[in-house]
Amino acid sequence: MRILVSGGAGFIGSNFVWYLLGLGHEVLVYDAFTYAGRLENLPSTVRIVRGDIVDRDGLISVVRDFQPDVVVNFAAETHVDRSIRDPEPFIRTNVYGIFTLLEVTRRFDLRLIHVSTDEVYGDLEGKEPASEDAPLRPSNPYSATKASGDMLIMAYWRTYGIKASIVRPSNNYGPRQHPEKLIPKTIIRAVNNLPVIVHGDGSQRRDWLYVEDTCRAIWLVAERGRPGEIYNIPGFNERSVLEVVEKVLELLNKPKSLIRFVGDRPGQDRRYLMRGDRILSLGWRPMVNWEDGLRMTIKWYLENEWWWRPLISDEYFVKDTPWQ
Ligand SMILES: NC(=O)c1ccc[n+]([C@@H]2O[C@H](COP(=O)([O-])OP(=O)(O)OC[C@H]3O[C@@H](n4cnc5c(N)ncnc54)[C@H](O)[C@@H]3O)[C@@H](O)[C@H]2O)c1
Repeated sequence: MRILVSGGAGFIGSNFVWYLLGLGHEVLVYDAFTYAGRLENLPSTVRIVRGDIVDRDGLISVVRDFQPDVVVNFAAETHVDRSIRDPEPFIRTNVYGIFTLLEVTRRFDLRLIHVSTDEVYGDLEGKEPASEDAPLRPSNPYSATKASGDMLIMAYWRTYGIKASIVRPSNNYGPRQHPEKLIPKTIIRAVNNLPVIVHGDGSQRRDWLYVEDTCRAIWLVAERGRPGEIYNIPGFNERSVLEVVEKVLELLNKPKSLIRFVGDRPGQDRRYLMRGDRILSLGWRPMVNWEDGLRMTIKWYLENEWWWRPLISDEYFVKDTPWQ
């Protein structure tokens, strides 16, 4: 199949590209190469077009040229802390960019798989795990823009009958994740004997999913999912942030005394958790268990310092609480 992967130069997108190539598919990556997108993430054999999902003409020309069977969209601004500091790029890419993508999807009658997030359900502390029809209660600019994108997609499906499905993965971890995010940030800081940062008291709970399991779920939805349907992708692996950080330190043989507690994010969600009945009914299960996934991730960062070294001057890696 011919698959156009927008945002394919980032963390999950690039893992998805490697996965598709392994299955023998033809892939074209369309990516704006923001701070989060890197050529180094991609195999040298893959076709790459530098382009913005907000640019309708750019998208149209690549669709005309490549004639994809499926478009899978990962393109987004993704870091909650950045969205608190400056929401505008989030609104541009995660809302206006989705509008543009939808217009092109409609015009060329494309099959679209859009990658959303569990964060659209908001804080689930004291509540049941969210099924796909739970209310959207986003708490920060990032999750609000992702929820907006999802709503536009469902409206286009209902109004124009576009062939779009949405997937909502939980927190991903694995190789090639930017050091601004919790697990790589913890690994790299610990390896360098720098204080390891924990927001608040670290009791916030997240559901962790190894990136390869996410890739399999997304491709399953592309092949077998229904248009107009939303698919949660849980990790069935709920852990507190402190537990995650302590496990990384343990696997690296580093002392807990490296942990430094700092002020919590404004609007911090205490807990994300989803049900996964729909994706389970397609036959998907996560295959990588937590400890194996974490060991593989740590091994990758230890062996690929060339990859992360240029990124650690980033202020979201260096500073404790960049919004203050
Ligand atoms: N990482 C997670 O834990 C997680 C969990 C659930 C959902 N998601 C979602 O999965 C998707 C991918 O997340 P990620 O962690 O790989 O993100 P990432 O930040 O690593 O990568 C985002 C990619 O999108 C590209 N991009 C940004 N703006 C663009 C634009 N306007 N036009 C074209 N390309 C653009 C970037 O260059 C980069 O390659 C996002 O939609 C995110 O919301 C991520």
